Amino acid sequence: MCGIIGYSGYRPAVPLLVEGLHRLEYRGYDSSGVAFDVLDRINVIKAEGKLSNLEAKLDSEMTLLATTGIGHTRWATHGLPVERNAHPHLSQDGAIAIVHNGIIENFQQLKDELTAKGHTFLSDTDTEVLAHLIGEERLSAPTLLDAFAAALRRAHGAYAVVLLSPEEHGVLYAARMSAPLLLGVGAGECFIGSDIPAFLPYTRDVVFLSDGEIVRVENESWEVFGLESLESRTSAKSVTRIAWDMHAAAKDGFKHFMLKEIMEQPRVIKDCLTGRLTGYGVDRRVSLPELDGLPVPSRLHIVACGTSYNAGLWGRQLIERMGGIPVDVDIASEFRYRDPILRPDEMVLVISQSGETADTLAALQLARGKGCRVIGLCNVVGSSIARESDVVLYTQAGPEISVASTKAMCSQMTLLALIALYFGQRRSPAVCDPSLLEALEALSGRLQEELPLMNERAKQLAEKFARTRGFFYLGRGCCEALAYEGALKLKEISYIHAEGYAAGEMKHGPIALVDSDFSSFALALDDDLFPKVKSNIQEILARRGRVIALVQRRGTGMAPRIEAEEVWELPASHPVAAGFLALPALQLFSYHVADYLGNDVDQPRNLAKSVTVE
Ligand code: AGP
Repeated sequence: MCGIIGYSGYRPAVPLLVEGLHRLEYRGYDSSGVAFDVLDRINVIKAEGKLSNLEAKLDSEMTLLATTGIGHTRWATHGLPVERNAHPHLSQDGAIAIVHNGIIENFQQLKDELTAKGHTFLSDTDTEVLAHLIGEERLSAPTLLDAFAAALRRAHGAYAVVLLSPEEHGVLYAARMSAPLLLGVGAGECFIGSDIPAFLPYTRDVVFLSDGEIVRVENESWEVFGLESLESRTSAKSVTRIAWDMHAAAKDGFKHFMLKEIMEQPRVIKDCLTGRLTGYGVDRRVSLPELDGLPVPSRLHIVACGTSYNAGLWGRQLIERMGGIPVDVDIASEFRYRDPILRPDEMVLVISQSGETADTLAALQLARGKGCRVIGLCNVVGSSIARESDVVLYTQAGPEISVASTKAMCSQMTLLALIALYFGQRRSPAVCDPSLLEALEALSGRLQEELPLMNERAKQLAEKFARTRGFFYLGRGCCEALAYEGALKLKEISYIHAEGYAAGEMKHGPIALVDSDFSSFALALDDDLFPKVKSNIQEILARRGRVIALVQRRGTGMAPRIEAEEVWELPASHPVAAGFLALPALQLFSYHVADYLGNDVDQPRNLAKSVTVE
């Protein structure tokens, strides 16, 4: 997820671009850049790191002459967050500059084709390949718009892209496919942005672009075309007046970043799967080229902290059952000090959203010191853990702003499911569980449908249980890890004491805590262990404990009969996909309890987003 902005009008463009990028920094902040055309030449200025590093380079008078320009703040998905990979990127002849948000899935094939034609590339990014492709198409296309459209038709994947060229001074072209892009229409000027905050102080009049549309902008005039045949679509577009204030706009209208990020999970699953599934039908397979150069480990040690540890615990059974590999899961702060026995044919998989967690980094360094290969599973490209791992798999979840980790765990679970299937394929290439792959690919749409209902139900229950003395979260099998995660979420943002427990452990002591003022959240999903969890719920009810039972409807559409103070029904699903439905339910319940109690949901007390100290 990156932030892009364009401006065409009567004011100096660069200051407006930088101001807009500051308001888009929550979409990514590991490098940034601007391009503007002055005296028929494109000027590109970029910087690694925070936006202030870019501003330090924009001191020349030149930057105040241009009234058309494009800008970008990056969340790296291809290529390290270094200056050469920062946007904007140029065509081979330097006559076209673009900024891009999204992932061009077939960029390598296009890059090979262009290289064979003599193109040379300065960066590792998919975006530069697109810029070169547009330039190559321009050699034969009648107009710049034709060249832009021809290149986009060949680019597979997600993109929101803005193009600048001195060939049409003062004009910007932009297009979108499965990535947000909208037009801000002002008096004598137009803005193009990934999101409303980019230009909200200058105009509230917005035209939302749809997938497969290209817009041409020159000062206050704009025209919309269909990508396939460049037919005019301007008359079908309407201008919407935005009522949000700046604060709300950065959260896309959500009250907190946490709620926004929970609701982003359908996109996160889709982005995490992008480029990692090949073939069709019975030949559909998982592709993780990062792992192709590694042997299949004799044992896998998953090491992480907090939510990432819970994700690893969830993935263990999958990797053992589908990948055929024995798996241990360790908390990093314990692993690093217990001098673990690691053999050269084993591997360590470290999971970290930030890629900077001190204990996890130390565990990685310990493993490598013992001659063990390390696979990193990170969300931040170029982070310490990513750089020190032997190979790294990126979760591509976009920046996670809220301290409580939500969409990161969803992306980690998605990647762990792919890893399980991948190692299963390595063991017996002909085998790949088609039902799980189908379920994973359908998840994004399923979750998109379910989340609004889940949100309402979570709010209802939160108001009813917010004053409880304490909570058990109970689960068995894959739900044990989800129980730990549900308890962690409630603790860290509502400050109510909550413990995740393997449901079968209740009778070994913890059940002494149960009384009419103590609540339990029991995960009784549609799996073989349902009857056991149902009995555990009975044990709690017999002691007058309060119970929320999270259950799943069966294929028949009916949920199982279960006694509890509240029964929360989720839709039927593949057993593995059930975890992706239960996770947001747990997240939303905690969110609404904390919001109901008036807590600072995004910045809970005592916590930091990344624990870079022991
Ligand atoms: C989870 O909501 C917390 N923010 C925390 O437990 C977090 O998951 C943990 O600190 C690990 O962070 P990492 O994934 O960035 O390594």
